Amino acid sequence: MSSVKTAVFPVAGLGTRFLPATKSVAKEMLSIVDKPLIQYGAEEAIEAGINKLVFIVGRTKNSIIDHFDKSYELETELEIRGKLDLLKIVKDVIPDGVACVFIRQSEALGLGHAVLCAEAAVGNHPFAVILPDDLIRNEGNGCVKQMVKVFDEYQSSIIGTQTVAIEESDKYGMVAGEQIGDRIARVEQIVEKPAPSEAPSNQAIVGRYVLTPAIFDLLRTTQRGAGDEIQLTDGIAALREYEQVLSYSFEGRRYDCGSKMGYLQATVEFALEHEELADDFKKYLKQLKL
Ligand code: G1P
Repeated sequence: MSSVKTAVFPVAGLGTRFLPATKSVAKEMLSIVDKPLIQYGAEEAIEAGINKLVFIVGRTKNSIIDHFDKSYELETELEIRGKLDLLKIVKDVIPDGVACVFIRQSEALGLGHAVLCAEAAVGNHPFAVILPDDLIRNEGNGCVKQMVKVFDEYQSSIIGTQTVAIEESDKYGMVAGEQIGDRIARVEQIVEKPAPSEAPSNQAIVGRYVLTPAIFDLLRTTQRGAGDEIQLTDGIAALREYEQVLSYSFEGRRYDCGSKMGYLQATVEFALEHEELADDFKKYLKQLKL
């Protein structure tokens, strides 16, 4: 059995890139076809054997809390109307045996600070961090499941990575290191949002991490960095001085749903695979004759 049982979802960001859609609705509640981004993230964690989901929320994120709450009225109504397939969809949002914890991040001080807010809920155990804006698809063997497997083998913190165009390095944490296994490298350099000329390689951090609890002490003393925020990347750079940190080039397709283009790509590709919609949607796209 895996030792990673908790996932942290830092979801307190303002989502300014999707205004006005995100004026009162959390960006993580935006749907790809019929499921909010946050739920894809929760399902990826649960698939990896995780049974505690810790959400670090901001003031405008009550819709996330509501989404994972039991909806008695809706469930009763669906039951009375005999809509049992829909009832199952609603009940499956959080399967039995999975607990949700919600913590308020009262100041938006950055991703590192958000992860530190989870300390009391995580305790002295390894945990995953999932940024739901990065939607990652790999049917049957999701990114977190792959990373938990690597963690169980190496017992070291792991960062999910992907190759990006070097011109885009200032949008990501960037890493470089020595390859030690299939898809696995030992991180030797890690820097948050460097200019292309300063990037150590073309390997970017994506929104998936498995971390040892040693990160918390380091985040407590991490100073503000890129964007004047307390960066998780800087905390991990400090962790590297005490422990081996690995990068893992995951198997699967990532959609940057924090950008409009990535969001649209995910919507089209998920619709083309959707069991009810795929055929009709394909026909519709063909007749557009673009
Ligand atoms: C965060 C991290 C960054 C990482 C990125 C992945 O940045 O700080 O290291 O590469 O997520 O999506 P953000 O996109 O929140 O600015």
